[in-house]
Amino acid sequence: MRAIVLLCLLHATFGQNKPYSWDGPGQGEPDPDQRAGSVCHTDQGSCGCCLMLREMNRLRTYFNTTLNTLEKEYLQTKQSLNNMEASRIAFSAALYSDDRFKCYGPFDVNSLIVYKHVFLNLGGGYNVQTGIFTVPRSGVYSLALTVFSDAGSPGNSLAACAGLQVNGQLVAGSRDQNKNDQEDSATIVVVLHLKAGNQVAVNLPIGCFLCDDNSHYNTFSAFLLYVTE
Ligand SMILES: *[C@@H]1O[C@H](CO)[C@@H](O)[C@H](O)[C@H]1NC(C)=O
Repeated sequence: MRAIVLLCLLHATFGQNKPYSWDGPGQGEPDPDQRAGSVCHTDQGSCGCCLMLREMNRLRTYFNTTLNTLEKEYLQTKQSLNNMEASRIAFSAALYSDDRFKCYGPFDVNSLIVYKHVFLNLGGGYNVQTGIFTVPRSGVYSLALTVFSDAGSPGNSLAACAGLQVNGQLVAGSRDQNKNDQEDSATIVVVLHLKAGNQVAVNLPIGCFLCDDNSHYNTFSAFLLYVTE
């Protein structure tokens, strides 16, 4: 193959009495395509070779363009992957992890529930001191809350209630206050579009109380479905 190309080059060079350049057009050299055409007119013997050169030039451009496109797409894909890896945000926490069963509340003011046992805190958004999840990146999030309470014995007042809130505003609540059953449990799941810096927390309304031990009956979790920026 190389030998044929060399022969072609020699043929074209002597036939035209001009040097051939691989650097392509733009350096005082005639375009190889035009050269191929003119050689075909003047020298029938060079014609086949020059047509081959023209074809090779076309292929070179084709592969170069294809490679450039692939390189661009590869870089974009790599960037997206890095972005995805940098936005792994998920946390999950439970109220207590003590062996002894105990209750949080009731209080005479609304209070945030501080979930003390952290299962996972990817992205570091959950603060175990305050119970607040500060949204690290804007996006669509799945949020879940399960509450459980125990009145202690049948006939006692049960108040299994809590409210999921964003920036102090109630998003979804659960409420079960009665004297009919001793235990109650409820779950809330919502999907929300949250902005970076939003504060998600669980409010314990006045008079409500939740009870837990290392069985983790009370959990609060959130994870990022996808980033929106
Ligand atoms: C290939 O494409 C790049 C980018 O467009 C260009 O700079 C380079 O000169 C091309 N090479 C050839 C051999 O065509």
